[in-house]
Amino acid sequence: MSCIMNKKLKNYTYNKIISFLLVIIIIFTLCACANNDTKVTSENEVVVIGFSQPGAESAWRLRNTQSVQEAADEAGYKLEFIDSQHKQENQIKALRTFIAYQVDVIAFSAIVESGWDNVLKEAKDAGIPVILTDRTIDTTDESLYLCTIGSDFYQEGIKAGNWLYDQFRTSPRDVNIIELLGTVDSSPTKGRSTGFRDGLRCDDKFKIVHSESGDFFRSRGLEMISDYIKNGVPVTNNSLKEGRSYDLDRESNSSASSSDSNSSPQSSQPIAMMPFNDIDVIYSHNDSMTLGVIEGLEKYGYKPGEDLLIITIDAQQEAIELLKENKINCVIECSPELGPKLIETVKMIIDGRTDEIPKTMYTEETIFTQNDDLDSLPKRLY
Ligand code: AHR
Repeated sequence: MSCIMNKKLKNYTYNKIISFLLVIIIIFTLCACANNDTKVTSENEVVVIGFSQPGAESAWRLRNTQSVQEAADEAGYKLEFIDSQHKQENQIKALRTFIAYQVDVIAFSAIVESGWDNVLKEAKDAGIPVILTDRTIDTTDESLYLCTIGSDFYQEGIKAGNWLYDQFRTSPRDVNIIELLGTVDSSPTKGRSTGFRDGLRCDDKFKIVHSESGDFFRSRGLEMISDYIKNGVPVTNNSLKEGRSYDLDRESNSSASSSDSNSSPQSSQPIAMMPFNDIDVIYSHNDSMTLGVIEGLEKYGYKPGEDLLIITIDAQQEAIELLKENKINCVIECSPELGPKLIETVKMIIDGRTDEIPKTMYTEETIFTQNDDLDSLPKRLY
């Protein structure tokens, strides 16, 4: 009897050892099969995403961060979040922190386009895939990032330019425009500027008399408009250059901080001063700056949307309300709701489906004008 028991016990132990070895072999084989560039996370490990934003300059940015956080929570992923406080050097440090922490994926919205190659090479060497969310970068080595998810900023500019072109199609007189730029050397600023000029189809009657950076801040919009009203508008450019070749650096002032020296713009000397009353249009690269502009205009007794046309980008709820009140004339949508797409992409990476991920993923966006049925629009979350 005890001999039979002993045999059973031996069989049981033997089976246990074999099962244990099999599990080890399976894990080993999975690791060996994995793509060398991508980290494989075992089913029991929590997926960690390092996510860095350039700052918290606008309602758009705050909603964008929320959207990513919500989607990560829903997927059960951990988000390590770093706000770079509007400094590129901080954002580079943030990426290095993520690399040291060995996160599974890095996602970031680049404060400016240039100056990322070194840190992205470090991420690549560490085998951490990088997703560019919202903003893109300028690099000659596209292998440094996996993909981009965000808006087509050039198309946003085109929409703004086309709309304005149509308003003055038959007008014989010049149209004087002030352009409030976002952060200099950032991809939305570049795309929205070049697109706008191309949307105006190089028609010489459109004069972008002055372009200046308000860094996407409401306070800067208010400051700049108050200055133009009080002191006049410095005319730094009175002809429309072809969008694609437009040299932003020479046309704008900047308050953007960048550690990359060649991205810092020179402010050009005004060739004349123009009375503010001669301005027909304000084209603002985001709603935050536009809200500052409207506050300033009203403070000095102007009627925004009537005394001069206002074109803005983002389409946050406040801008839609002002469009309804005819204080803004045209709103170009830029959606901050990038979280679901980003997390879907991270999931594909974790599932080893990196090859199926497109290099560029644009959000579908629209344009709102006073002719639209704005009351039936669902409330926006930003
Ligand atoms: O990169 C997107 C832009 O950045 C949004 O238009 C703006 O509001 C934000 O701060």
